[in-house]
Amino acid sequence: MNTRVLTGITTSGTPHLGNYAGAIRPAVQASTQPGVDAFFFMADYHALIKCDDPARVARSRLEIAATWLAVGLDHERVTFYRQSDIPEIPELTWMLNCVTAKGLMNRAHAYKAAVDQNEAKGVEPDDGVTMGLFSYPVLMAADIVMFNANKVPVGRDQIQHLEMARDIAQRFNHLYGRDYFTLPEVVIEEDVATLPGLDGRKMSKSYNNTIPLFEGGARALRASVMRIVTDSRQPGEPKDAENSHLYTIYRAFATPEQSVAFRKQLEEGLGWGDAKQALYDHLENLLAPMREKYFDLMANPGRIEDILQAGAAKARKLSEPFMRELRQAVGLRNLEAASAGARGAEPKKEKGKGARFVSFRDEDGGFRFRLLAADGEELLLSQRFADPKEAGALMRRLQSEPADAVLQADGQGYAAIIDGVTVATAPEGALLARAREALDSLSQE
Ligand code: TRP
Repeated sequence: MNTRVLTGITTSGTPHLGNYAGAIRPAVQASTQPGVDAFFFMADYHALIKCDDPARVARSRLEIAATWLAVGLDHERVTFYRQSDIPEIPELTWMLNCVTAKGLMNRAHAYKAAVDQNEAKGVEPDDGVTMGLFSYPVLMAADIVMFNANKVPVGRDQIQHLEMARDIAQRFNHLYGRDYFTLPEVVIEEDVATLPGLDGRKMSKSYNNTIPLFEGGARALRASVMRIVTDSRQPGEPKDAENSHLYTIYRAFATPEQSVAFRKQLEEGLGWGDAKQALYDHLENLLAPMREKYFDLMANPGRIEDILQAGAAKARKLSEPFMRELRQAVGLRNLEAASAGARGAEPKKEKGKGARFVSFRDEDGGFRFRLLAADGEELLLSQRFADPKEAGALMRRLQSEPADAVLQADGQGYAAIIDGVTVATAPEGALLARAREALDSLSQE
Protein backbone atom coordinates (compact mmCIF):
# COMPACT_ATOMS: atom_id res chain seq x y z
CA MET A 1 0.00 0.00 0.00
CA ASN A 2 1.14 3.51 -0.76
CA THR A 3 2.29 5.81 2.00
CA ARG A 4 -0.10 8.64 2.64
CA VAL A 5 1.69 11.93 3.06
CA LEU A 6 -0.49 14.82 4.16
CA THR A 7 0.18 18.43 4.95
CA GLY A 8 -1.79 21.62 5.40
CA ILE A 9 -1.00 25.24 4.74
CA THR A 10 -2.72 27.89 6.83
CA THR A 11 -4.22 30.45 4.49
CA SER A 12 -3.42 33.61 6.35
CA GLY A 13 -0.72 35.23 4.27
CA THR A 14 0.93 35.72 0.91
CA PRO A 15 3.55 33.09 0.03
CA HIS A 16 7.12 34.33 0.31
CA LEU A 17 10.44 32.92 -0.75
CA GLY A 18 10.90 31.22 2.62
CA ASN A 19 7.59 29.35 2.29
CA TYR A 20 8.62 28.27 -1.16
CA ALA A 21 12.05 26.91 -0.21
CA GLY A 22 10.98 25.52 3.15
CA ALA A 23 7.60 24.00 2.43
CA ILE A 24 6.16 24.34 -1.04
CA ARG A 25 9.07 23.14 -3.12
CA PRO A 26 9.91 20.08 -0.98
CA ALA A 27 6.25 19.10 -0.77
CA VAL A 28 5.74 19.29 -4.52
CA GLN A 29 8.92 17.29 -5.03
CA ALA A 30 7.90 14.66 -2.50
CA SER A 31 4.51 14.27 -4.15
CA THR A 32 6.16 12.97 -7.31
CA GLN A 33 7.85 10.05 -5.52
CA PRO A 34 6.60 6.58 -6.39
CA GLY A 35 4.65 4.83 -3.66
CA VAL A 36 3.33 8.09 -2.25
CA ASP A 37 -0.24 9.34 -2.13
CA ALA A 38 0.01 13.01 -1.33
CA PHE A 39 -2.74 15.06 0.30
CA PHE A 40 -2.25 18.83 0.29
CA PHE A 41 -4.86 21.09 1.65
CA MET A 42 -5.48 24.66 2.54
CA ALA A 43 -6.15 24.98 6.24
CA ASP A 44 -8.65 27.78 5.89
CA TYR A 45 -10.54 26.96 9.09
CA HIS A 46 -7.22 27.37 10.86
CA ALA A 47 -6.87 30.75 9.18
CA LEU A 48 -9.99 31.98 10.98
CA ILE A 49 -8.23 31.49 14.30
CA LYS A 50 -5.62 34.09 13.51
CA CYS A 51 -7.48 36.38 11.20
CA ASP A 52 -10.92 37.99 11.37
CA ASP A 53 -10.50 39.97 8.18
CA PRO A 54 -12.64 38.17 5.58
CA ALA A 55 -11.01 39.91 2.63
CA ARG A 56 -7.58 38.76 3.75
CA VAL A 57 -8.71 35.19 4.31
CA ALA A 58 -10.32 35.11 0.87
CA ARG A 59 -7.32 36.67 -0.82
CA SER A 60 -4.87 34.35 0.89
CA ARG A 61 -6.76 31.22 -0.16
CA LEU A 62 -6.66 32.39 -3.74
CA GLU A 63 -2.97 33.32 -3.65
CA ILE A 64 -1.92 30.11 -1.99
CA ALA A 65 -3.91 27.90 -4.33
CA ALA A 66 -2.54 29.78 -7.35
CA THR A 67 0.99 29.47 -5.98
CA TRP A 68 0.86 25.72 -5.49
CA LEU A 69 -0.54 25.19 -8.95
CA ALA A 70 1.90 27.63 -10.57
CA VAL A 71 4.97 25.94 -9.10
CA GLY A 72 3.94 22.65 -10.64
CA LEU A 73 1.77 20.77 -8.20
CA ASP A 74 0.21 17.94 -10.17
CA HIS A 75 -3.40 18.27 -9.03
CA GLU A 76 -4.46 15.21 -10.99
CA ARG A 77 -2.12 13.05 -9.03
CA VAL A 78 -2.18 14.72 -5.64
CA THR A 79 -5.37 15.23 -3.64
CA PHE A 80 -5.46 19.02 -3.40
CA TYR A 81 -8.38 20.56 -1.51
CA ARG A 82 -9.61 23.13 0.94
CA GLN A 83 -10.27 22.05 4.51
CA SER A 84 -13.55 23.99 4.50
CA ASP A 85 -14.84 21.96 1.56
CA ILE A 86 -14.77 18.79 3.66
CA PRO A 87 -17.67 18.96 6.16
CA GLU A 88 -16.53 15.71 7.73
CA ILE A 89 -13.49 17.52 9.15
CA PRO A 90 -15.38 19.79 11.56
CA GLU A 91 -17.66 16.87 12.37
CA LEU A 92 -14.69 14.74 13.29
CA THR A 93 -13.21 17.67 15.19
CA TRP A 94 -16.19 17.57 17.51
CA MET A 95 -15.87 13.83 18.07
CA LEU A 96 -12.20 14.30 18.87
CA ASN A 97 -12.96 17.26 21.14
CA CYS A 98 -15.06 14.88 23.17
CA VAL A 99 -12.17 12.51 23.80
CA THR A 100 -9.43 15.12 24.22
CA ALA A 101 -8.36 15.99 27.73
CA LYS A 102 -8.48 19.70 28.40
CA GLY A 103 -5.23 19.28 30.29
CA LEU A 104 -3.55 18.16 27.08
CA MET A 105 -4.59 21.39 25.37
CA ASN A 106 -3.39 23.44 28.34
CA ARG A 107 0.10 22.27 27.43
CA ALA A 108 0.00 23.39 23.79
CA HIS A 109 2.87 25.78 23.03
CA ALA A 110 0.76 28.30 21.15
CA TYR A 111 -1.73 28.54 23.99
CA LYS A 112 0.97 28.67 26.65
CA ALA A 113 2.76 31.43 24.77
CA ALA A 114 -0.45 33.48 24.75
CA VAL A 115 -0.88 32.93 28.49
CA ASP A 116 2.75 33.88 29.18
CA GLN A 117 2.35 37.08 27.22
CA ASN A 118 -0.79 37.93 29.12
CA GLU A 119 0.93 37.31 32.42
CA ALA A 120 3.82 39.51 31.38
CA LYS A 121 1.32 42.24 30.56
CA GLY A 122 -0.42 41.72 33.88
CA VAL A 123 -3.81 40.88 32.38
CA GLU A 124 -6.06 37.82 32.76
CA PRO A 125 -4.18 34.68 31.66
CA ASP A 126 -6.81 33.84 29.04
CA ASP A 127 -7.23 37.39 27.80
CA GLY A 128 -7.96 37.34 24.07
CA VAL A 129 -7.66 33.55 23.90
CA THR A 130 -10.48 32.06 21.83
CA MET A 131 -11.68 28.48 21.90
CA GLY A 132 -10.39 28.32 18.33
CA LEU A 133 -6.85 29.02 19.47
CA PHE A 134 -7.19 26.77 22.48
CA SER A 135 -8.43 23.75 20.56
CA TYR A 136 -6.38 24.40 17.42
CA PRO A 137 -4.51 21.08 17.82
CA VAL A 138 -7.79 19.14 17.81
CA LEU A 139 -8.79 20.56 14.43
CA MET A 140 -5.33 19.74 13.17
CA ALA A 141 -5.62 16.19 14.48
CA ALA A 142 -8.92 15.83 12.62
CA ASP A 143 -7.27 17.04 9.39
CA ILE A 144 -4.70 14.32 9.72
CA VAL A 145 -6.62 11.31 10.98
CA MET A 146 -9.61 11.96 8.71
CA PHE A 147 -7.42 10.64 5.90
CA ASN A 148 -5.38 8.22 7.96
CA ALA A 149 -2.14 9.90 6.97
CA ASN A 150 1.02 7.94 7.64
CA LYS A 151 3.43 10.85 7.36
CA VAL A 152 3.02 14.53 7.98
CA PRO A 153 5.84 16.80 6.82
CA VAL A 154 5.82 20.00 8.88
CA GLY A 155 8.11 22.60 10.41
CA ARG A 156 9.65 22.08 13.84
CA ASP A 157 7.07 24.32 15.47
CA GLN A 158 4.43 21.71 14.62
CA ILE A 159 6.05 18.68 16.26
CA GLN A 160 3.99 19.04 19.42
CA HIS A 161 0.78 19.19 17.38
CA LEU A 162 1.66 15.89 15.76
CA GLU A 163 2.29 14.33 19.15
CA MET A 164 -1.10 15.56 20.26
CA ALA A 165 -2.73 14.16 17.12
CA ARG A 166 -1.27 10.75 17.93
CA ASP A 167 -2.39 11.03 21.50
CA ILE A 168 -5.95 11.97 20.54
CA ALA A 169 -6.18 9.28 17.85
CA GLN A 170 -4.93 6.67 20.25
CA ARG A 171 -7.45 7.67 22.83
CA PHE A 172 -10.31 7.44 20.36
CA ASN A 173 -9.11 4.03 19.18
CA HIS A 174 -8.88 2.83 22.73
CA LEU A 175 -12.29 4.14 23.80
CA TYR A 176 -14.10 2.75 20.80
CA GLY A 177 -12.22 -0.50 20.76
CA ARG A 178 -10.71 -0.56 17.32
CA ASP A 179 -7.87 1.04 15.36
CA TYR A 180 -10.09 3.42 13.49
CA PHE A 181 -7.21 5.84 13.07
CA THR A 182 -3.69 5.36 11.86
CA LEU A 183 -1.20 7.05 14.17
CA PRO A 184 0.57 9.70 12.07
CA GLU A 185 4.31 10.20 12.07
CA VAL A 186 5.89 13.60 11.93
CA VAL A 187 8.44 14.21 9.18
CA ILE A 188 10.94 17.02 9.69
CA GLU A 189 12.86 17.64 6.53
CA GLU A 190 16.37 18.13 7.87
CA ASP A 191 18.00 19.26 4.66
CA VAL A 192 15.32 21.73 3.73
CA ALA A 193 16.46 25.30 3.72
CA THR A 194 15.29 27.55 6.52
CA LEU A 195 15.72 30.76 4.65
CA PRO A 196 17.04 33.84 6.41
CA GLY A 197 15.01 36.98 5.83
CA LEU A 198 16.23 40.45 4.89
CA ASP A 199 17.62 41.02 8.38
CA GLY A 200 19.14 37.56 8.80
CA ARG A 201 16.50 36.21 11.19
CA LYS A 202 14.33 33.38 9.87
CA MET A 203 12.24 34.67 6.98
CA SER A 204 8.79 35.12 8.43
CA LYS A 205 5.75 37.26 8.02
CA SER A 206 5.82 38.02 11.72
CA TYR A 207 9.31 39.56 11.45
CA ASN A 208 8.31 41.57 8.41
CA ASN A 209 11.54 40.52 6.70
CA THR A 210 10.22 38.53 3.76
CA ILE A 211 10.99 38.47 0.07
CA PRO A 212 7.76 37.99 -1.89
CA LEU A 213 7.56 34.96 -4.11
CA PHE A 214 5.32 36.28 -6.90
CA GLU A 215 3.25 39.18 -5.63
CA GLY A 216 4.52 42.56 -6.76
CA GLY A 217 6.28 41.01 -9.71
CA ALA A 218 9.92 41.46 -10.68
CA ARG A 219 10.03 44.98 -9.24
CA ALA A 220 9.07 43.91 -5.75
CA LEU A 221 11.50 41.01 -5.91
CA ARG A 222 14.35 43.31 -6.90
CA ALA A 223 13.46 45.93 -4.31
CA SER A 224 13.48 43.30 -1.56
CA VAL A 225 16.75 41.74 -2.65
CA MET A 226 18.37 45.17 -2.58
CA ARG A 227 17.29 45.52 1.06
CA ILE A 228 19.08 42.36 2.25
CA VAL A 229 21.35 43.35 5.14
CA THR A 230 25.07 42.83 4.50
CA ASP A 231 28.22 43.81 6.34
CA SER A 232 30.11 46.96 5.47
CA ARG A 233 32.92 45.42 3.47
CA GLN A 234 33.72 47.43 0.37
CA PRO A 235 33.94 46.20 -3.21
CA GLY A 236 37.29 44.48 -3.68
CA GLU A 237 37.42 43.27 -0.09
CA PRO A 238 36.99 39.50 0.34
CA LYS A 239 33.53 38.59 1.70
CA ASP A 240 32.68 35.93 4.26
CA ALA A 241 30.21 34.07 2.02
CA GLU A 242 29.32 31.36 4.54
CA ASN A 243 28.16 33.93 7.05
CA SER A 244 26.20 36.15 4.73
CA HIS A 245 22.42 35.81 4.40
CA LEU A 246 22.69 36.80 0.80
CA TYR A 247 24.78 33.76 -0.01
CA THR A 248 22.54 31.49 2.07
CA ILE A 249 19.55 32.64 0.05
CA TYR A 250 21.42 32.20 -3.21
CA ARG A 251 22.48 28.69 -2.29
CA ALA A 252 18.90 27.64 -1.57
CA PHE A 253 18.06 28.25 -5.21
CA ALA A 254 21.22 27.15 -6.99
CA THR A 255 22.97 23.96 -8.00
CA PRO A 256 26.11 23.08 -6.02
CA GLU A 257 28.27 24.21 -8.98
CA GLN A 258 26.55 27.57 -9.20
CA SER A 259 26.92 28.02 -5.46
CA VAL A 260 30.64 27.27 -5.53
CA ALA A 261 31.16 29.75 -8.36
CA PHE A 262 29.19 32.49 -6.57
CA ARG A 263 31.01 31.89 -3.35
CA LYS A 264 34.35 32.20 -5.12
CA GLN A 265 33.29 35.54 -6.61
CA LEU A 266 32.35 36.82 -3.17
CA GLU A 267 35.61 35.65 -1.63
CA GLU A 268 37.43 37.40 -4.44
CA GLY A 269 35.85 40.70 -3.55
CA LEU A 270 32.58 40.99 -5.50
CA GLY A 271 30.83 44.13 -4.24
CA TRP A 272 27.59 43.68 -2.31
CA GLY A 273 25.68 45.75 -4.86
CA ASP A 274 26.82 43.50 -7.68
CA ALA A 275 26.15 40.43 -5.55
CA LYS A 276 22.57 41.59 -4.98
CA GLN A 277 22.11 42.15 -8.67
CA ALA A 278 23.46 38.64 -9.34
CA LEU A 279 21.10 37.14 -6.76
CA TYR A 280 18.17 39.03 -8.23
CA ASP A 281 19.03 37.90 -11.78
CA HIS A 282 19.31 34.35 -10.61
CA LEU A 283 15.98 34.39 -8.77
CA GLU A 284 14.20 36.22 -11.54
CA ASN A 285 15.39 33.66 -14.05
CA LEU A 286 13.97 30.89 -11.92
CA LEU A 287 10.75 32.52 -10.80
CA ALA A 288 9.63 34.40 -13.92
CA PRO A 289 8.09 31.43 -15.75
CA MET A 290 6.23 30.30 -12.60
CA ARG A 291 5.15 33.85 -11.89
CA GLU A 292 3.60 34.06 -15.33
CA LYS A 293 1.50 30.98 -14.59
CA TYR A 294 0.64 32.42 -11.21
CA PHE A 295 -0.78 35.64 -12.61
CA ASP A 296 -2.56 33.72 -15.29
CA LEU A 297 -4.30 31.64 -12.63
CA MET A 298 -5.00 34.68 -10.46
CA ALA A 299 -6.78 36.21 -13.43
CA ASN A 300 -8.88 33.06 -13.82
CA PRO A 301 -10.06 32.15 -10.33
CA GLY A 302 -12.80 29.98 -11.83
CA ARG A 303 -10.14 27.57 -13.01
CA ILE A 304 -8.68 27.30 -9.54
CA GLU A 305 -12.14 26.87 -8.07
CA ASP A 306 -12.84 23.96 -10.45
CA ILE A 307 -9.59 22.27 -9.54
CA LEU A 308 -10.30 22.64 -5.83
CA GLN A 309 -13.85 21.38 -6.20
CA ALA A 310 -12.56 18.32 -8.02
CA GLY A 311 -10.01 17.87 -5.23
CA ALA A 312 -12.73 18.10 -2.59
CA ALA A 313 -14.81 15.50 -4.41
CA LYS A 314 -11.81 13.18 -4.47
CA ALA A 315 -11.12 13.71 -0.78
CA ARG A 316 -14.76 13.23 0.16
CA LYS A 317 -14.80 9.84 -1.51
CA LEU A 318 -12.71 8.87 1.48
CA SER A 319 -14.05 11.12 4.22
CA GLU A 320 -17.76 10.43 3.66
CA PRO A 321 -17.72 6.65 4.08
CA PHE A 322 -15.18 6.95 6.88
CA MET A 323 -17.42 9.41 8.73
CA ARG A 324 -20.34 7.01 8.38
CA GLU A 325 -18.20 4.39 10.04
CA LEU A 326 -17.15 6.78 12.79
CA ARG A 327 -20.72 7.86 13.49
CA GLN A 328 -21.53 4.21 13.85
CA ALA A 329 -18.57 3.71 16.15
CA VAL A 330 -19.61 6.41 18.61
CA GLY A 331 -23.29 5.40 18.57
CA LEU A 332 -24.76 8.04 16.25
CA ARG A 333 -26.70 5.38 14.43
CA ASN A 334 -29.88 4.74 12.60
CA LEU A 335 -32.43 4.11 15.33
CA GLU A 336 -33.63 0.82 13.95
CA ALA A 337 -30.09 -0.49 13.86
CA ALA A 338 -29.59 0.83 17.38
CA SER A 339 -32.43 -1.20 18.84
CA ALA A 340 -31.61 -4.38 16.94
CA GLY A 341 -27.93 -4.10 17.83
CA ALA A 342 -28.62 -3.45 21.50
CA ARG A 343 -25.95 -4.18 24.02
CA GLY A 344 -23.15 -6.58 23.48
CA ALA A 345 -22.85 -5.81 19.79
CA GLU A 346 -20.37 -2.98 20.36
CA PRO A 347 -17.05 -3.53 18.68
CA LYS A 348 -15.31 -2.44 21.89
CA LYS A 349 -16.58 -5.49 23.71
CA GLU A 350 -14.90 -7.61 21.13
CA LYS A 351 -16.74 -10.67 22.28
CA GLY A 352 -16.41 -12.19 18.92
CA LYS A 353 -19.72 -13.42 17.74
CA GLY A 354 -21.25 -14.66 20.92
CA ALA A 355 -24.84 -15.56 21.57
CA ARG A 356 -26.83 -12.56 22.73
CA PHE A 357 -30.08 -11.10 23.87
CA VAL A 358 -31.52 -8.35 21.78
CA SER A 359 -34.41 -6.23 22.94
CA PHE A 360 -36.77 -4.37 20.67
CA ARG A 361 -40.22 -2.85 20.44
CA ASP A 362 -42.84 -4.61 18.38
CA GLU A 363 -45.34 -2.92 16.05
CA ASP A 364 -47.79 -2.30 18.86
CA GLY A 365 -45.18 -0.62 21.03
CA GLY A 366 -44.74 -3.62 23.32
CA PHE A 367 -41.31 -4.58 24.65
CA ARG A 368 -39.84 -7.89 23.65
CA PHE A 369 -36.49 -9.56 23.36
CA ARG A 370 -34.92 -12.36 21.44
CA LEU A 371 -32.16 -14.78 22.19
CA LEU A 372 -29.87 -15.09 19.20
CA ALA A 373 -27.22 -17.71 18.59
CA ALA A 374 -23.70 -16.66 17.67
CA ASP A 375 -24.60 -16.96 14.00
CA GLY A 376 -27.70 -14.84 14.47
CA GLU A 377 -30.23 -17.67 14.47
CA GLU A 378 -33.22 -16.83 16.61
CA LEU A 379 -33.58 -19.25 19.55
CA LEU A 380 -36.18 -17.56 21.71
CA LEU A 381 -38.80 -14.89 21.23
CA SER A 382 -40.19 -13.36 24.39
CA GLN A 383 -43.76 -12.54 25.23
CA ARG A 384 -44.84 -9.01 24.91
CA PHE A 385 -44.38 -6.75 27.94
CA ALA A 386 -45.89 -3.37 28.54
CA ASP A 387 -43.09 -2.44 30.91
CA PRO A 388 -39.54 -2.44 29.53
CA LYS A 389 -38.16 -2.94 33.04
CA GLU A 390 -40.08 -6.15 33.39
CA ALA A 391 -38.72 -7.38 30.06
CA GLY A 392 -35.21 -6.42 31.11
CA ALA A 393 -35.48 -8.13 34.48
CA LEU A 394 -36.66 -11.37 32.89
CA MET A 395 -33.90 -11.23 30.33
CA ARG A 396 -31.36 -10.99 33.15
CA ARG A 397 -32.99 -13.85 35.04
CA LEU A 398 -32.76 -16.02 31.95
CA GLN A 399 -29.08 -15.32 31.86
CA SER A 400 -28.46 -16.06 35.50
CA GLU A 401 -30.47 -19.24 35.94
CA PRO A 402 -29.05 -22.57 34.75
CA ALA A 403 -30.28 -23.21 31.20
CA ASP A 404 -31.63 -26.62 32.11
CA ALA A 405 -33.86 -25.11 34.76
CA VAL A 406 -35.52 -22.52 32.53
CA LEU A 407 -35.67 -24.25 29.14
CA GLN A 408 -38.35 -26.87 28.93
CA ALA A 409 -39.30 -28.99 26.00
CA ASP A 410 -42.96 -28.92 25.06
CA GLY A 411 -45.03 -30.43 22.28
CA GLN A 412 -43.36 -29.00 19.18
CA GLY A 413 -40.33 -27.29 20.61
CA TYR A 414 -39.36 -25.66 23.89
CA ALA A 415 -40.04 -22.61 25.98
CA ALA A 416 -38.33 -20.56 28.66
CA ILE A 417 -40.27 -20.76 31.89
CA ILE A 418 -39.61 -18.74 35.02
CA ASP A 419 -41.63 -19.18 38.20
CA GLY A 420 -44.06 -21.30 36.25
CA VAL A 421 -44.73 -18.60 33.68
CA THR A 422 -43.79 -18.95 30.03
CA VAL A 423 -41.55 -16.01 29.34
CA ALA A 424 -40.39 -16.84 25.83
CA THR A 425 -41.09 -19.44 23.20
CA ALA A 426 -39.00 -21.07 20.52
CA PRO A 427 -39.52 -20.23 16.89
CA GLU A 428 -40.44 -23.12 14.66
CA GLY A 429 -37.59 -25.47 13.95
CA ALA A 430 -35.22 -24.13 16.62
CA LEU A 431 -33.28 -26.76 18.53
CA LEU A 432 -33.37 -26.99 22.29
CA ALA A 433 -29.72 -28.02 22.42
CA ARG A 434 -28.68 -24.86 20.66
CA ALA A 435 -30.73 -22.70 22.97
CA ARG A 436 -29.20 -24.42 25.97
CA GLU A 437 -25.71 -23.85 24.66
CA ALA A 438 -26.45 -20.21 23.98
CA LEU A 439 -27.87 -19.56 27.43
CA ASP A 440 -25.02 -21.41 29.08
CA SER A 441 -22.46 -19.33 27.24
CA LEU A 442 -24.20 -16.16 28.44
CA SER A 443 -24.45 -17.27 32.04
CA GLN A 444 -20.71 -17.90 32.15
CA GLU A 445 -19.93 -14.29 31.43
N1 TRP B 1 -0.80 24.10 11.73
C1 TRP B 1 -0.07 23.97 10.49
C2 TRP B 1 0.87 25.16 10.35
O1 TRP B 1 0.59 26.21 10.84
C3 TRP B 1 -1.01 23.92 9.32
C4 TRP B 1 -1.84 22.70 9.38
C5 TRP B 1 -3.17 22.63 9.68
C6 TRP B 1 -1.40 21.38 9.16
N2 TRP B 1 -3.59 21.35 9.65
C7 TRP B 1 -2.54 20.55 9.34
C8 TRP B 1 -0.15 20.82 8.84
C9 TRP B 1 -2.44 19.16 9.22
C10 TRP B 1 -0.08 19.43 8.71
C11 TRP B 1 -1.20 18.62 8.89
O2 TRP B 1 1.88 25.00 9.70
